[in-house]
Amino acid sequence: MKKRYLCLLMAYFALNGIHAQPLKARIKVDIERRTGDIDPMLYGNFTEHLGRCIYGGIYDPKSPQANADGFRKDVIDATRNLGVSIIRWPGGNFVSGYHWQDGIGPVDQRPHRKDLAWGDIEPNAVGTDEWLKFTKATGAEPYICVNMGTGTWDEARNWVEYCNGKPGLYFSDLRARNGHPEAYKVKYWGLGNEVDGEWQMGHRSAEDYSKYALEAAKLMKWSDDSIKLIASGSSNYVRDWAEWDRTVLNYMHDYIDYISLHHYSGNRDADHNKFMAVTVGVENNIRITEGIINEVRSKYRMKKPIYIAFDEYNVWYRAWNEQKLEEKYNLQDALVVAGYLNVFVRNSHIVKMANMAQLVNVIAPMMVTDGQLWLQPIYYPLQLFAANCKGTALDTFVDCDRYDAGDFTRVPYLDVTSIYNSRKGELIVNVVNRHKDKAIETSISLQHGKWNSKASVSEVNGARLEDVNNEKEQKVKTVAKEVSLSGENLQYTFPAHSFTQIIIKTKV
Ligand code: AHR
Repeated sequence: MKKRYLCLLMAYFALNGIHAQPLKARIKVDIERRTGDIDPMLYGNFTEHLGRCIYGGIYDPKSPQANADGFRKDVIDATRNLGVSIIRWPGGNFVSGYHWQDGIGPVDQRPHRKDLAWGDIEPNAVGTDEWLKFTKATGAEPYICVNMGTGTWDEARNWVEYCNGKPGLYFSDLRARNGHPEAYKVKYWGLGNEVDGEWQMGHRSAEDYSKYALEAAKLMKWSDDSIKLIASGSSNYVRDWAEWDRTVLNYMHDYIDYISLHHYSGNRDADHNKFMAVTVGVENNIRITEGIINEVRSKYRMKKPIYIAFDEYNVWYRAWNEQKLEEKYNLQDALVVAGYLNVFVRNSHIVKMANMAQLVNVIAPMMVTDGQLWLQPIYYPLQLFAANCKGTALDTFVDCDRYDAGDFTRVPYLDVTSIYNSRKGELIVNVVNRHKDKAIETSISLQHGKWNSKASVSEVNGARLEDVNNEKEQKVKTVAKEVSLSGENLQYTFPAHSFTQIIIKTKV
């Protein structure tokens, strides 16, 4: 009787996929199987005139944290520690109604205007010169997006001249009169924001946008031919969304260097597995866009590459309808952010820029409350990627259990990337264990090279997926340790719901 009961119990467990043991997986890494050079611009960010991102975030002259220019030192330090390589500005939706000349010259003479994107009053205290000063203090590259909503071609090309023009021209001389004789040499310029969405000021059809932005692009490049231009690509994933990109690329391929993609995700159905699979969809969108880039390049027999700039991404769903967008992130969100970063690294041959939206307070990795800065869970995976994932992405073999969720089938529980940094002689392996409650015992084998017997491991995890951080407590953060390899093999158990980064140095 007892035996029969046990058999029934085992059959029940087998049918329901419940294992008494941890799951098992295999990863193989070969430093000769290189897929793409990782552009440092993959670890970018974004600051928009929205809620408390600019005012009360990066800029707060009344704060005890303010430097002589009114920018918060703690925000600058946390941005540096995050390893932010490039910052996009001034929007976002905001830019589609922004006239940059409102933000230069004596601050007390700058107009106050209603921003129709978010409903705030824009005081224009932070304009081009101030924001570039902030960006310089963070060590990041500036990336300016021009107004292709209510803006004109002249405004776009004059902005390039103001930032980059040599002395003797009207706008470069104006810059000098405003205290900056040296050109800023802003290299990256965006041609509008999310023009494919009806929520955008100056929303247009793909054809109308392409024709308009093409003329702006020409004038901007004729003003400074060293700049790199980013066309506004898809952000609105309706049926046939990719036709937007196809039209834009067909019209603008000669003038643009990148096409942008945006994506936000959320756990709206409170379905962990489905939420964890969202980055599979992001990867599909990248591949579709890459296919269209290839189609257009081949049609026009182009030698010049066109890349993808994924210049807005993040988890964003709780603070969706409130003006300030102050999303409070948990461990689960940090895992999804690690998933986005894995996708960018895996596709680093075509994705050459990515910008988390946004930097501070507004859907952000850092928050400033009661005069104190604290770090959200999503800060930590981005910091690990920015600090260590440099070099060349590798084609990684992964054999693990899979699941079906939402629109996605056969989603691997382990989301893995690996990178070889030849300069430092380092192999980096990034692993998100998507499983809600199972650890995964993994055998990692290194196919080439001589490796140290010790590896450094950094883990972002917490007791519960719902764990959040605040001013007083950092429940989710990076915890570091060392582990041993045996020869070219590392046995490692990835805990449930975790992000792990393993670094192994070449044996010298
Ligand atoms: O980052 C918040 C908003 O999300 C941006 O303004 C817009 O580009 C996107 O829809």
